[in-house]
Amino acid sequence: MSIQIQTGERLPQVDLAWMDAGHLRRRDVQDLFHDKRVILLGLPGAFTPVCTGTHLNRYIELAPSFHRSGFDLLACVTPENPWAVDAWSRVMDPQGRLQFYSDGNLDFGRATGLTTRLPELFLGTCLQRFVMIIRRGMIEQLNIERVATDVTCSAAEYLARQAGVVLPI
Ligand code: BEZ
Repeated sequence: MSIQIQTGERLPQVDLAWMDAGHLRRRDVQDLFHDKRVILLGLPGAFTPVCTGTHLNRYIELAPSFHRSGFDLLACVTPENPWAVDAWSRVMDPQGRLQFYSDGNLDFGRATGLTTRLPELFLGTCLQRFVMIIRRGMIEQLNIERVATDVTCSAAEYLARQAGVVLPI
């Protein structure tokens, strides 16, 4: 088993991918996030019921509150291929509040030790469910769910409380 990345450590230099007007793009995460305060949500799968119905959608709804509290960027990463991630982003977030990245090769998951095995659900090796706060490429906060279908410490409301973000009542 690989060693999990810790708070206070720098993100690894591995590429994430996304689609841009039909073109496949890739960039290393250090580069993507080096000058920003970022929330990065890690999800086991696109189009899965918990990720879609209760987890990611709350971050999309609450994105303006996170921005008002000083976050430059909200992003999510999932181990599907970039085309599937792009299709999911169009369904989930037509306003484009979040950035959606593919870790289809699991380079990010393996480099951070944030993978898990869910073969019984036909997800094979996938990302754990986690959320991290990144400041200038360093991990400031990392919350990892013990059970992939749980949304507790990775929930938008939980992270908002930790980060002192004021949410609408
Ligand atoms: C989900 O609904 O998000 C989910 C389902 C099975 C495994 C992991 C995640």
